[in-house]
This record gives sequence, C-alpha cells and structure tokens, in this order.
Amino acid sequence: MLVRVLGSAAGGGFPQWNCACVNCRGVREGLIKASPRTQESVCLSADDGDWFLINASPDICSQIESFSPIHPGRSRATPIQAIFLTNGDLDHCLGLLSLRENHRLVIYATQSVRRGFTEGNVLYRTLQRFADQVTWRTLKLGVEETVLCEDGRPSGLTVKAMPIPGKPPVHLEGLILTEDPELNVGLRFRQGTNGRVLTYLSAVGRITPSVFEVMEGSDCVMFDGTFWSSDELSTPGFLEKSAEDLAHWPVGGPEGSLAMVSKITTPRRVFIHINNTNPMLREDSLERKIVEAAGWEVAWDGMEIRL
Ligand code: MLT
Ligand code: MN
Ligand code: ZN
Repeated sequence: MLVRVLGSAAGGGFPQWNCACVNCRGVREGLIKASPRTQESVCLSADDGDWFLINASPDICSQIESFSPIHPGRSRATPIQAIFLTNGDLDHCLGLLSLRENHRLVIYATQSVRRGFTEGNVLYRTLQRFADQVTWRTLKLGVEETVLCEDGRPSGLTVKAMPIPGKPPVHLEGLILTEDPELNVGLRFRQGTNGRVLTYLSAVGRITPSVFEVMEGSDCVMFDGTFWSSDELSTPGFLEKSAEDLAHWPVGGPEGSLAMVSKITTPRRVFIHINNTNPMLREDSLERKIVEAAGWEVAWDGMEIRL
C-alpha cells in the first residue's frame, strides 16, 4: 500500500489567510524553519494504479495536481476511484463540490455524514446534474468490508470504520444530535496481499478504549495532531474554546495524546491535521523534538508512506 499525504494541515491551512501568529507570519516571511501545508487530505492505493482519497479538502484541485499518479490518464478519466469521508467538517467535504465537473463520484461515508452533507444543502445540487452523479456507499460501524473501485472491481483493500469521539460539523451545531457515534470515524485500511494496516484518525475528541481498539495491530497510525495544548487558541485570544471543546485532544502535556498513545507499538506513527498555531510545525522547536523523541513524525505535504 502506498499512502501519500496531499495536505497535512487542519482547517484554514498553514499559513491561514487571516492569521499572523508566530507560525503563520514566520512561514510567510521565511522567518521560521517550517513548510507551508494545505488542508488535510490523503490518498492511498494498494497497487499504485487505483487510488482512493481520504477526505476532500477545500484545496483538493491543487492537491490532485501535486501528485502525478492521480492525474487523468486520458480525457475525462481519473484513477481516483472513490473518496472516504471521516466526518462532515467542511475541511473534509468542501472539496467534493470542487469535483463537480460532470464526473461520476463514489463516496464512502456513514449515513449521518452523508445526511449532514446532502440534506437541506442547495449546493449539493451541483453534484446532482445527472442521475447517479454521486454513488454513496455506506460505512457501517465496526464492519470490515472490501473497498471497491468505481466500477465495482475489488481494490485490494478492505476498510473498517470505527466510532471515535468527535462533534458535529460547525454548520450543523444545534441542528443534529451531538452523541451520534456516526459523526466521526476512524478508518482502518487493510491490504489483502500483505495484510498491512493503515489506521487513519484525523479527529480524536477524547482518548477512549475505542481509540486503542482501532489502532491495534496497525503498521501505520495517522493521528490527530491539531493542537499542542488545550489553550492554544484561547490564550492568544483567537477563540474562546479549548482544544477539547473543538473535539481535538491536544498532543502535549501529561495527559496529551502523545503521552497517552505512545504505549502503542505501531512502527510508523504520524501526526496529521495540524493547526497553524501548533508549535510542533517548527522543525527546531522543543515540541517537535519531544514528538520525534517519542517516535512520532509530523506529516508534511508530499510525505509518502509505503506499507
Ligand atoms: C475541525 O477540525 O474541528 C473543523 O475543521 C473546524 C471547522 O470546520 O472550522
Ligand atoms: Mn478540521
Ligand atoms: Zn496562524
């Protein structure tokens, strides 16, 4: 299996258009040791031929252009077979609307994520220009299933979606139930030929036994690296909410994900969906040193992982 990181930043990207924090200003002006990052999206393939996207970020078109194996081989044909959604946040779904060019799309999502995107959304009509423009395939919690290509061929991968603590997307707050286990999932991809497993968890609201369960026996874990600390947005006055309020458990501190999750024995552990405020983006920061000393990597746009 080949995994390619198309975008590794949280919503807003790095730098973020309206931000001049130390990191955003620093990367814009070349004052810090860090690389710009687009919003989180990853693609993977079992055979380097048929590709699957995990999340469709608002940056999706330039992300597709950034990686030649997912360019169309001929007119109006794409090696991208389907798109997986891990939740309904705009930084994961908005890119779907950019893929509207009269092309059939296959989207794997839980029923709740599908309803959150399709119901009462007039913009969704742009993906209903012809019958069957979008085929939704329903991810059922805890069920391992064969991942199929657009035309129904097996892809060489299986997937299992597991409920992970999260929250409704911002645009659905107050409109839907917050305790719906289908709102946010971790995805476990397994390759048929060599049995290798990628676990993808880009939004983890709390560290629960289900988080450990989904990671068990993985060859690579990609994990929520949004914030370093709980008060990362509130202290500078950006937003009066903690990391936990935003359903992104912080990485640092004695109860952070790094401390709690590092007992796993997974060979490759990678933080992804990194907010522009996170000090671990700076390659010479203390926080980056702590992460790397614990055997974790910080995802970057263009990173490839062969499993
Ligand atoms: C998140 O990761 O919590 C969301 O992307 C936030 C947002 O939609 O602004
Ligand atoms: Mn996000
Ligand atoms: Zn910033």
